[in-house]
Amino acid sequence: MNIIETEKLSYKYDDGSYALRDVDLTFEKGRITSVLGANGAGKSTLFLNMNGVLHPTNGKVRFCGEDIKYDKKSLNELRRRVGIVFQDPDDQLFSASVFQDVSFGAMNLKLDRSEVISRTESALKRVGIEHLKDNPTHALSFGQKKRAAIAGILVMRPEVIILDEPTAGLDPMGVSSLMGLLKDICRSEGATIIISTHDIDVVPVYSDYIYVLDKGEVLKGGTPEEIFRDPDALRAHNLRLPRIAHLLEVLNKADGIDLDFSKSTISAARRELLKLIRTDTIL
Ligand SMILES: Nc1ncnc2c1ncn2[C@@H]1O[C@H](COP(=O)(O)OP(=O)(O)OP(=O)(O)O)[C@@H](O)[C@H]1O
Ligand SMILES: [Mg+2]
Repeated sequence: MNIIETEKLSYKYDDGSYALRDVDLTFEKGRITSVLGANGAGKSTLFLNMNGVLHPTNGKVRFCGEDIKYDKKSLNELRRRVGIVFQDPDDQLFSASVFQDVSFGAMNLKLDRSEVISRTESALKRVGIEHLKDNPTHALSFGQKKRAAIAGILVMRPEVIILDEPTAGLDPMGVSSLMGLLKDICRSEGATIIISTHDIDVVPVYSDYIYVLDKGEVLKGGTPEEIFRDPDALRAHNLRLPRIAHLLEVLNKADGIDLDFSKSTISAARRELLKLIRTDTIL
C-alpha cells in the first residue's frame, strides 16, 4: 500500500524558479525509501510539500489515499502522522532545554505526564543524548542538535518519518546507530521512513527503494541493485556508486573480472568475491 503519493507535483518559489516539476512518486508503507539527488535537486522542497509545510503550485500530495487538506486542523493532524526532521536542526529546535524541546511533540498529543516523560526519556536514549537532557539546546554541538531534532520527532511515534539528510554531521558510530534505529522502527513498529542523503555508502545497506531526483524532476526509481547497475547515469547527475560497488566496477571494467557491480553492500560484495575465489576464476 502506498502511504504517500505525489501526482504531477510542481513547486515554484517566490522568485519564479521551479524547484519541482511534475513529480510523480509513491512511497510504500513500512519501507525505507531514500531520495538521492545533487545539491539543489529539490529533495528538501519535496519533503516540505509532503507534510504540508509548502503548498504545491500545481499537482497533489496524497496521504493514505486522500488529498492533503491545508486548513489548520487537517495540517495539525497530518503533521502528527507524518513527522519531518528538517535538514537544519536550528529550524527545528526552539525550547530552552533539550528535555523541553524533545518532549514538546508528546505534550501536544495531550498524553499523560508520565507517558510524556517515558517517551521523552526513551527517545533521548535511542539517539544517545540522555546525558544532555538538562542542557540548553543552543549550547549543543551540531551533531547533538541533529540527534535532539530526531528525538523530537520520535516522541510522537508518527506513522511516517521524513528525515532530510539525517546523517549529515553525525560521527561514524552516530550514523550506524541512527540508521540501525530507523531500520528497527521500520521493521518492528511498521513505520514508513523516507530519507534524503548524500551519504551514498549507507544507502544500499538500509534502503528498500531509491528515487533519484535531478533539477526538480524524477530521473529514476528502483531497488538499490537497479539504481547502482547504471553508474554512468548516476555520474552524469553528480552522484556516484557506493565505494564497495565502485571497487567491483573497477575489477570488472579495468581487470575484466566477471562480477556484478550492482552489489553494493559489504555482505553482497563479499558473497560475489567468494563465489569467484571458490571457483578459482581469478586464480
Ligand atoms: N527559499 C527559496 N527561494 C528560492 N529558491 C529556493 C528556495 N529554497 C530552495 N530554492 C531553490 O530550489 C531548488 C531546490 O532546492 P532544495 O533545497 O529543495 O534542494 P535539495 O535537493 O534539498 O539540495 P541540498 O542537497 O543542497 O539540500 C534549488 O535550485 C534552490 O536554489
Ligand atoms: Mg536539501
